[in-house]
Amino acid sequence: RKVLSVASEAVPLIKTGGLADVVGALPRALAGQGWEMRVMIPAYRGVLKSLKAAKAVWKSPDLFGAPARLMQGKVGVIIVLALDAPHLFDRAGGPYSDAGVDFVDNGERFAALSYVAAEVARKGVAGWKPEIVHAHDWQTGLVPWYLRGTGVPTVITVHNIAFQGRFARTKLEALGLTQADFQRDGVEYWGDISTLKAGLMAADAITTVSPRYADELMRPEFGMGLEGVLQLRARDLHGILNGIDGAAWNPETDPHISPFSVKKIADKGNNRKALQDEFNLNVKGPLAILISRLTDQKGIDLIAPAIEPFLAAGGGLAVLGSGDRWAEAAMLDLATRYPSQVGVKIGYDEVQSHRMFAGGDAVLVPSRFEPCGLTQLYGLRYGCLPVVAAVGGLADTVVGATPATMAAKAATGVVFHPVDALALEQGLMKLVSLYEDRAVWRAMVARAMKLDWGWERSASLYAALYDTLISNAD
Ligand code: ADP
Ligand code: GLC
Repeated sequence: RKVLSVASEAVPLIKTGGLADVVGALPRALAGQGWEMRVMIPAYRGVLKSLKAAKAVWKSPDLFGAPARLMQGKVGVIIVLALDAPHLFDRAGGPYSDAGVDFVDNGERFAALSYVAAEVARKGVAGWKPEIVHAHDWQTGLVPWYLRGTGVPTVITVHNIAFQGRFARTKLEALGLTQADFQRDGVEYWGDISTLKAGLMAADAITTVSPRYADELMRPEFGMGLEGVLQLRARDLHGILNGIDGAAWNPETDPHISPFSVKKIADKGNNRKALQDEFNLNVKGPLAILISRLTDQKGIDLIAPAIEPFLAAGGGLAVLGSGDRWAEAAMLDLATRYPSQVGVKIGYDEVQSHRMFAGGDAVLVPSRFEPCGLTQLYGLRYGCLPVVAAVGGLADTVVGATPATMAAKAATGVVFHPVDALALEQGLMKLVSLYEDRAVWRAMVARAMKLDWGWERSASLYAALYDTLISNAD
């Protein structure tokens, strides 16, 4: 079976967040279900260098203004199609912006990617024609739209509805659209164009990355203006939880840490000591970590007003992240005020993140909304118990400690609600009291570490969905 996945990021080639982890992991997980998933992404600067045995399999003298070609190559065993369009993708900065400023032609850039993906889906490339196309987020929302009426089934996954691919109406032609597309049941969205809305309207199925987020998306608090569209498509909306890469995230074999296991849990202590040294901390109580994009979504502003009682009770916090300037400043300010209890590294460092999950006692995820979230899953795997807001995938994956869940031996972390500083403060104090009861704590850690977040289950759900859509299309 053949499926084409089209996205703006994929591990290990280019990553700004969990989207890349998911797009990178799905092909291997689906291979186990008998599906060959090829991945199409833009050839940002540097991407072609990482492709093995790349060859041009498609060319255009004029793709949205200049020549372009599709380079097919391999990353490990996965076949990647990289859209080499230098006028759109060969530039300094990240995938969407440089020095914090969005590229002005993001609409054209990702419309071009979507356009070529639709061509490949309709005609095939290098002797390979997918039976179905899987798009992700606003960047590839136009894929289902360009493919509507062609008989090629499409799925779009919403990883984050906050980003909607909104562009002025004057861009219609530049995005390969016409006035006829600009309707209420089309790409029109509050007088503008939304590429995400186009995808949500046209795809045969919509998925999102947790069952709870699927429900939330149909409510105004979380739908961010698209709740009506999602209500309309409720029958075709599915929540499929993300998995984690069990090879990269295994505390028994992780090359970046001092290994440990449920049976040899005392060895986690070496990592805690190393983490304290790394961040210059001297913490007696629970050592919490935060590894995150530092943005409003992630509830970073709640931490400073919530954390003082936790620090007074002996807790500590190690932060690794980057993002909005105000959020970076808030974290750095805490570190200045509590130098032996709060340590902050501004930046992005995958290897350091492994050391932090290994050494931390708890991982904070106070997000206002969280479609799935991956750090709470890494935390569970590494016995670094999640303290999470009761939203989206966080609520779906962490069992909060209450008298009932403790009695049932089910609790794996702390879940707080509502998402505000007071509830976070109380959640952190609950963490302190759980941590102080060593037997209780050890039991929770062991329970968390034994959970299985492998991709197999999710992959079989995606495979079943593809099967249904293909047979419906026949
Ligand atoms: P989102 O995609 O919304 O940022 P997720 O929790 O789904 O949130 O995914 C974030 C991913 O990025 C995780 O793999 C997390 O470990 C990683 N990550 C985030 N910030 C950093 C950082 N500063 N250094 C290393 N890894 C990070
Ligand atoms: C988005 C979401 C995050 C999710 C990730 C992968 O970035 O913010 O919650 O885990 O996509 O699906």
